[in-house]
Amino acid sequence: MSAVLYGIGVGPGDPDLLTIKAVKILQQVDVVAVPESSSENGSTALDIALPHLNKEAVVLNLEFPMVADVNKRELSRQTNARLLADYVRNGKKVAFLTLGDPLLYSTFQYILRYVSQWQIPVKCIPGIYSFAAVANAINLPLVIGNQQLAVLSNLDENKWDAIQLFDKVVCMKVSAYAPLLHQLLNGNNHWQFAMVTNVGKADQQISFDVADLLCGVHYFTTVILTKKD
Ligand SMILES: C[S@@+](CC[C@H](N)C(=O)[O-])C[C@H]1O[C@@H](n2cnc3c(N)ncnc32)[C@H](O)[C@@H]1O
Repeated sequence: MSAVLYGIGVGPGDPDLLTIKAVKILQQVDVVAVPESSSENGSTALDIALPHLNKEAVVLNLEFPMVADVNKRELSRQTNARLLADYVRNGKKVAFLTLGDPLLYSTFQYILRYVSQWQIPVKCIPGIYSFAAVANAINLPLVIGNQQLAVLSNLDENKWDAIQLFDKVVCMKVSAYAPLLHQLLNGNNHWQFAMVTNVGKADQQISFDVADLLCGVHYFTTVILTKKD
């Protein structure tokens, strides 16, 4: 195993839902990089991966502040990418942990953009998407045959019009637009609603009641809408 930066998907929450490949790599790397939005928040990705880590590996907490200033956000991405690139240039094997899959709405994609420009060797290791775990937690088939699936990370009235063309809609980051989604779904007989919070964790919660969108939706929540026949 030579020096490389891995983007490792650790799945949505249950430490048993890492791939065997991810676990094998975690047991061999020198450095485990853990993204955090602030030093006080800790890291869900690290909590998930912890049982699988090589105890000798250095854990590197990388702050990616969620500030309004876009330039500051980009600067922290670039600074963290430089740090990771330096480890690899110095012969280290580095794993960057990411919730779910590394290429679906993840911080790792910002790092990937920089290190690819700098010709740093990178390998992405897929993880189980949170919405795959959510659908499985409630035995809800996603799509079959010619059905079409949409995945959203935000919502407005125009998107809602476009969504009507789909059979199934996955709403990620729903905490940011829960009141609007409630307004659009309340009294609407065209869509079946399912919402799962903290899938695979001890405090997993499931709801089939649209009204729960108004009850303080947690960040780790995904909604799946199914068009009624
Ligand atoms: C920044 S995205 C990360 C997506 C991740 N890369 C993936 O592959 O699922 C964060 C969103 O993923 C969803 N999510 C992540 N973990 C979850 C969990 N344990 N339960 C429910 N939804 C989750 C939520 O919609 C959350 O707002």
